[in-house]
Amino acid sequence: MPDTITITDDRTGKTVTVPIEGGVFPSSALRELDPSLYCYDPAYLSTASCKSAITFLDGDAGILRYGGYPIEQLAENSTYLEVAYLLLNGELPNKVELDTWVANVTNHTFIHENMRKRFVDGFHYNAHPMGMFISAVAALGTFYDGSKDIHDPAQRERQILRLIAKAPTLAAMAYRFSVGLPFNYPNNDLSYPANFINMMWKVGDYEVDPRLERAMEVLFILHADHEQNCGTTAMRVIGSSHADPYSSAAGAAAALYGPLHGGANEAVVRMLGEIGSIENVPAFVDSVKAGEGRLMGFGHRVYKNYDPRARIIKQAAYDVFEVTGKNPLLDIALALEETALSDPYFIDRKLYPNVDFYSGLIYQAMGFPVEMFTVLFAIPRMSGWLAHWQELLNDPAQKISRPRQWYSGPDERNYVDIANR
Ligand code: CMC
Repeated sequence: MPDTITITDDRTGKTVTVPIEGGVFPSSALRELDPSLYCYDPAYLSTASCKSAITFLDGDAGILRYGGYPIEQLAENSTYLEVAYLLLNGELPNKVELDTWVANVTNHTFIHENMRKRFVDGFHYNAHPMGMFISAVAALGTFYDGSKDIHDPAQRERQILRLIAKAPTLAAMAYRFSVGLPFNYPNNDLSYPANFINMMWKVGDYEVDPRLERAMEVLFILHADHEQNCGTTAMRVIGSSHADPYSSAAGAAAALYGPLHGGANEAVVRMLGEIGSIENVPAFVDSVKAGEGRLMGFGHRVYKNYDPRARIIKQAAYDVFEVTGKNPLLDIALALEETALSDPYFIDRKLYPNVDFYSGLIYQAMGFPVEMFTVLFAIPRMSGWLAHWQELLNDPAQKISRPRQWYSGPDERNYVDIANR
């Protein structure tokens, strides 16, 4: 069977045959038929906007790999900073490379005092931490002369280091401000996740529990990248205009903020709270089947199988609960999962738990308020966004993003004076 596709324009009888590679064919074939012919593909359901070597995702089989490495192996053996290096460089670092990379990131954890004293102090006392995070990421770029030198590889690398290193600092700063606590400076003797936990919670004597540190590491690894999702696509679209990486990352974070994307874990926790007890689970599932709402944390645009990240997070939840005590919502979540996975409604539609089903329970048990959940997603996703931004800038096939539209407005008409409208 030939690996080609032949398209015929029935209006003219013209045909064009193009290769199919990895299940993809170049839509530029259409322009060969007729330069004014376009595909209509709202939400990019069947459009690949780029070639990417960073993350592989097979939604039917429930497979996720960074640089070819299965997510399960990375979650078991790696660290977030090692994974960030892998995403950015395509290979795992050797010992020297890893030590240098970790030292360089650690060097950049502090932020300019004006960010804390003047910029952050300007927010309203009850500002949402995610709104603060998004604007702080954009503002950060104004502190660095080189931030706009995106074609200089050395400058690019420096901004990447800064954004990855400072993301936890900005996140913790937003949280501490929102609850009126003094800011904790980074402690560069700690690992990346331990430093974040320390900046979040340290009041007086405080030591980071290594089990929580590892759980945070695993959560950071699982959230580091997920190929062309809404936030990453926003990063690429903004980056394609050659905006600086701070502005692009702020835009990506803004896309992540929405409840259909990074905000679903918050909705899961609220839903479990509303269900209230295991006895209410069957009635709740019936109401979902009757179309009265969705089972939050279930279903995915790409995964039509168990989200591999959900399986790992479920295990991590038990590790965290050993330290924090069990989140009382866990039993409801388990009963809900069991009921749904044995119900033909969910089986037929291939609806399985996604990454958000259990992550909120961990965050809540660790003491994070629900407003911080999306910020917790944004910290590690920074490395994924930057890896895609870098790949975009190095890809000669990429140009400024500029989709076409299918115009559906009125035809030409004459201006009508306001008195006659
Ligand atoms: N509960 C009940 N029914 C559902 C659900 C759900 N969570 N998700 C999908 N369905 C049904 C839907 O009603 C439809 O049924 P029918 O064919 O009878 O009309 C069918 O399944 C297909 O749904 P869809 O809306 O066409 O699927 P989609 O790919 O457009 O939506 C989704 C994907 C994630 C938005 C959706 O599954 C959903 O709303 N899930 C709940 C929210 C959630 O957990 N979001 C986190 C996504 S993972 C994190 C991230 O990527 O940011």
